[in-house]
Amino acid sequence: MARTTPSTTPPDNTDTASDVLTGLALAAWHVLRWSVIVTWWAVLFPMVTFPAVLTAWAWIAYGWQAGIAAALLSLAVLTTWRFTHPSSFRAAIPARIRARFRRYQHRRQWASVCALNGLAPVLDGVPIIPRLRKVRIHPDTDVLLVELVVGQTLTDWSRRCDALAHGWRVSAVTATSATPGQVTLTIRTRDRLATPIPLPTPKAGVDLDAVPIGRTDDGDTWRVRIAGRHLLVAGATGAGKGSVVWSILTGLAPAVQTGLVRLWVIDPKGGMEFGSATALFDRFVHTTGPDTVQLLRDAAELVRDRADRYRGHARAHTATTAEPQVVIVIDELASLTAYETDRKAATETTQLLSLVLSQGRAVGVSVIAAAQDPSKEVLSMRQLFPTRIGLRLTEATQVDMALGQGARAAGALCDQIPDALPGVGYQIEDGTAQPIRVRAFHVTDTDIDTVVAGYTIPGAARPQPDTDQPGTSASDAGDPSAYPTPGF
Ligand SMILES: Nc1ncnc2c1ncn2[C@@H]1O[C@H](COP(=O)(O)OP(=O)(O)OP(=O)(O)O)[C@@H](O)[C@H]1O
Ligand SMILES: [Mg+2]
Repeated sequence: MARTTPSTTPPDNTDTASDVLTGLALAAWHVLRWSVIVTWWAVLFPMVTFPAVLTAWAWIAYGWQAGIAAALLSLAVLTTWRFTHPSSFRAAIPARIRARFRRYQHRRQWASVCALNGLAPVLDGVPIIPRLRKVRIHPDTDVLLVELVVGQTLTDWSRRCDALAHGWRVSAVTATSATPGQVTLTIRTRDRLATPIPLPTPKAGVDLDAVPIGRTDDGDTWRVRIAGRHLLVAGATGAGKGSVVWSILTGLAPAVQTGLVRLWVIDPKGGMEFGSATALFDRFVHTTGPDTVQLLRDAAELVRDRADRYRGHARAHTATTAEPQVVIVIDELASLTAYETDRKAATETTQLLSLVLSQGRAVGVSVIAAAQDPSKEVLSMRQLFPTRIGLRLTEATQVDMALGQGARAAGALCDQIPDALPGVGYQIEDGTAQPIRVRAFHVTDTDIDTVVAGYTIPGAARPQPDTDQPGTSASDAGDPSAYPTPGF
């Protein structure tokens, strides 16, 4: 066995020299790297760099007094900018710094985020991190474009969205896929819909193609089309269906007053929801059964009559006082169909409603229906509603039932809307894949009283329904002649 003896050779000077050289090279590399970073940031933020350079130059060239004067002048300019044009200031400095920082943070944490959430499959003992292709930072959302690892699906990512949201400490993360092999993660960093949106004063000159009823996720006004459309509003009890319908009605109120729109309202809950606004309505029913059936018969008759008259003349209806847009509001669809104990009435209601839904759009008859329970039998007519709005729902499976196949996978997370956000939901339009997140105006009882007082139909003072005895009488549907409807 060979014996090892302690080395007695003196330390090699060449080793020390090479260590020094390596140290110097490393230091030079760091200096160069930081110079590039600082220069790059200086170029990116001239509004910060320029005052700093000005101050340094004044100090060196003219002494410390000049330096301080330059610094104070720069500060005054920036402060004036901050207070006179806050939005451009925010966009130019804090928002850009934040965007840079968040982009850097996402890229730096990406590997551990994937590994901790089980999104980095392991091959031969080595984790494969999905490639982060792009990071876009917006004021309210961060959007990450991710390349899937072979074997991963959109569902794998959708399932982890809740965990990702908790990890990032944000209110929601959604995963969607527009291109095979890629997933877009939308991280909601700020919720513009977190606080109730007060009802604005309804504007005259109502555009039936774009009635404002709230706000969208990106801060725009949420508008819905009423002409040529039917709207379905699905949501659990207390989800805010009433606020969506009321936002529409108050938006339409000026057109109701001028006679361009007529409202036929079915409020099967005994008139509790709409009974205070009958002065805006042309027809009002607060019982199920014969009254409701009669109103729907009249609607079907109107549709047939208009279709006969328009045939060969007009391809689309334009609302006039002679031929107004008729908007039929049904507060709880299930009360007329699934929950109706009179099966004969339920069957006739379904037939009449199907007719109005399938043929009414072209002739100026629209239906707005609210539904608490989007079960199959309630929403057998779902496909006939081109605009569908899903508010808070109790189960994930209800989302596709209410909004259509694939709506939840496309990002309509109605089952994840907290109780604390009534009026928040997702709207989906037939023909568009992407749901938009929205919140309806918060319409209070005082708002309703103000709108009713301001836009009552002239000369048509209507009796209040007898809401003390729900379901007993007080319907005008059985006697259409009580409220003359010119032009029908
Ligand atoms: N858009 C909104 N913004 C703020 N608060 C709202 C909004 N919509 C509803 N709310 C609040 O939530 C409560 C319940 O709303 P709403 O009556 O509209 O629910 P709903 O879905 O119609 O319930 P139900 O099925 O019982 O009729 C309201 O009393 C109101 O205080
Ligand atoms: Mg309601």
